[in-house]
Amino acid sequence: MSDEVKKGLEGVVVAESALSHIDGDAGKLIYRGYAIEDLAREASYEEVLYLLWHGSLPNRDELDSFSESMADERSVDEDVLSTVRRLAEADADPMAALQTTVSMLSAYDPDDSETDPEDYEANLRKGRRITAKIPTIIAAFDRFRNGDEPVEPREDLGHAENFLYMLNGEEPDEVLAETFDMALVLHADHGLNASTFSSMVTSSTLSGVHSAITSAIGTLAGPLHGGANQNVMKMLKEVDDADQDPVEWVKNALDRGDRVMGMGHRVYNVKDPRAKILGEKSEELGEAAGDTKWYEMSVAIEEYMQEEKGLAPNVDFYSASTYYQMGIPIDVYTPIFAMSRVGGWVGHVLEQYDDNRLIRPRAKYVGPENQEFVPLDER
Ligand code: COA
Repeated sequence: MSDEVKKGLEGVVVAESALSHIDGDAGKLIYRGYAIEDLAREASYEEVLYLLWHGSLPNRDELDSFSESMADERSVDEDVLSTVRRLAEADADPMAALQTTVSMLSAYDPDDSETDPEDYEANLRKGRRITAKIPTIIAAFDRFRNGDEPVEPREDLGHAENFLYMLNGEEPDEVLAETFDMALVLHADHGLNASTFSSMVTSSTLSGVHSAITSAIGTLAGPLHGGANQNVMKMLKEVDDADQDPVEWVKNALDRGDRVMGMGHRVYNVKDPRAKILGEKSEELGEAAGDTKWYEMSVAIEEYMQEEKGLAPNVDFYSASTYYQMGIPIDVYTPIFAMSRVGGWVGHVLEQYDDNRLIRPRAKYVGPENQEFVPLDER
């Protein structure tokens, strides 16, 4: 057995998956063979969920009944809502609150709490319920901490539109609803990223869907993964508040040895295709509002990082200014990432159950050997 260490599992292939594929040299991303650009332009988040979970794009009837089944599941139990309230009042981190609450949902799920990896339909139902309820939890959390009561989900609105409605208490205009739906499509799946992998590790022990998604939320929260989007916006705000040149700010950050959030990627060697689409959205929103400063600052940073470090933006770089211009609170950006990526997590958990083997790598031992044990009182 080789003891070669593949730090960060870089380049290690651990599973087969039919869900999504990244060509890191060409900057291409597909979900089940469909180009992300086509899905972003043409498909709703519900269509993408159906594609990921059922293997093909739905026809009109299939989409209608799928969307209805999602909308039916949006409400959360009163006990869950009161936990969300308590977490909001305790000023919990929004991702920690989401993780706790998703874990709690398992107690209220009508399907059996025992996990049968062969019961695909039951596991899919659990995944669908979690996906349907996450927006309700995020919106309620934000409202509670602002001293407002949560807004009941509406069954007549799409997944994206209903979230913005619950968050703000009013229906979003068409541009905002479509932009947000597109952002959800763009974040839905991305190969074996860290959070997806952690959901697979958890499900490989035959632990349940709720438990796998809870693991994934914790993994997504970190700044090297989903937490990057809010840090990008904090950076842009800091530059703006100090009235600084963004390139000078970045130079200083790099001199200090800091990483520039939203830049670089393990798999892409060129610009992330999702960043291209979100960059255009960020610019469009700025133009519509008559102020493109966030977009322009971002472009200046992108150009400098490309020239100086050969690093290109990832999905988090332009989602930050896009969400900011949509009026979404900064610390809700990562929960929104979870709200979308849960589609991919559920898909990968189902794939894992379908062809399971316990995920259990090894470490190369570098600690001492043959130590002589000294009893406590003699040390
Ligand atoms: N800013 C500055 N330098 C960066 C960088 C960034 N955002 N991303 C990578 N680098 C540098 C590292 O310092 C390292 O340089 P070195 O070899 O001189 O030490 C080199 O590039 C390789 O970095 P490494 O951490 O080994 O790459 P990785 O594949 O493990 O990391 C990320 C990938 C995404 C974690 C990394 O690019 C990063 O931290 N990006 C910022 C966080 C982010 O946006 N995350 C969201 C990802 S979708």
